[in-house]
Amino acid sequence: MVTKELIRQSLEPITDPTYGASIVELNFVKDVVIKENRVSLTCVLSVTDESYKASLKERIESALSQIGAEGVHIRFREITDYEKNQLSAYENVSEAGSVDTAGSNAGTGQEAAPLLNPESPVNFIAVASGKGGVGKSTVTANLAVALARLGKRVGIMDADIYGFSIPDMMGIEEQPQLVDNRIIPVEKFGVKVISMGFFVEDNSPVIWRGPMLGKMLHNFFHEVDWGELDYLLLDLPPGTGDIALDIHQLLPQSKEILVTTPHATAAFVAARAGAMAVHTKHEIIGVVENMAYYECSKCGEKDYVFGRGGGGMLAEQLHTQLLAQIPLGAPDNHISEPDYSPSVYKEDSNTGQLYLELARSVVQHAQKD
Ligand SMILES: Nc1ncnc2c1ncn2[C@@H]1O[C@H](COP(=O)(O)OP(=O)(O)O)[C@@H](O)[C@H]1O
Ligand SMILES: [Mg+2]
Repeated sequence: MVTKELIRQSLEPITDPTYGASIVELNFVKDVVIKENRVSLTCVLSVTDESYKASLKERIESALSQIGAEGVHIRFREITDYEKNQLSAYENVSEAGSVDTAGSNAGTGQEAAPLLNPESPVNFIAVASGKGGVGKSTVTANLAVALARLGKRVGIMDADIYGFSIPDMMGIEEQPQLVDNRIIPVEKFGVKVISMGFFVEDNSPVIWRGPMLGKMLHNFFHEVDWGELDYLLLDLPPGTGDIALDIHQLLPQSKEILVTTPHATAAFVAARAGAMAVHTKHEIIGVVENMAYYECSKCGEKDYVFGRGGGGMLAEQLHTQLLAQIPLGAPDNHISEPDYSPSVYKEDSNTGQLYLELARSVVQHAQKD
């Protein structure tokens, strides 16, 4: 017979991605009613992403069917501000090491946290876009390399867990090393990189669902030995999904750069991502317009292949500045070069210089605080 205690036990292993603790422990499972082995309950969501909700529903249903439930009805509702406030205290408690992270050794969790400490001197910059394919990862990689060229200590967290691309773009072939149970990021062009791509075999697709994604991010902060950093750039997945939300919650002090193409539609979509930053009180440093124009190599004339004005429009809408306009054109790199990378522009190239200027603006902005 299904009992409330059995239900508690069966749902205990389900972890909430935001708080990294069991949904039972967090009191997210409510209003449990059992009638002739049919169960109905309410489940609180800290993440409103539809795919997360669907995967959670599946997990709850499967856990309950294993204890003999013959029908399950779940009502989902968003977490309230009051609940969030109550849990902020909980977050601090769990940071202190009561939560074990996937397959990790719990003892190291504690020392790793300084990165997330509000006092941390690291400048976090999340690079966001409304949609994929606008060059968010390209901008992240090149801004990071440019900052390193200015002598800054820089890291990239490739938080695009499904669509990771930073290692390939930067031409990274090695894997991170494990030293004393800590993951050492791979360094290239003076930038420390960590990416889901390092932990996936043979480029196979990642099929992890919501809760695992949250854990992955948690691990990127807690299990990785970043050393001392001036800047940590986060390549966010496109849009306003659960990972972006997690980042906003994990790093309230993070600032943001929005990437768009000059096309009006792209700028509209990017505005949504920007609105989320505003909503979560993340300061927007500015907008980068990528693929802004094509410059004829013979006559130097600019052709605005994808339209004009999207970046400026977005900046205006978000009351921020247009930081850079990057033209179309792949880097002039050759696979035979020792330091080959498909997407990093050389320092002395036109675009390489534009990225240096962008990096200088970012540094200026950081020094303002
Ligand atoms: N300025 C540019 N000129 C030419 N190709 C570019 C430019 N920026 C990005 N790309 C290419 O466009 C594609 C999408 O860029 P990417 O950085 O992966 O976008 P996102 O991270 O937004 O999905 C990649 O193949 C990339 O090499
Ligand atoms: Mg990308």
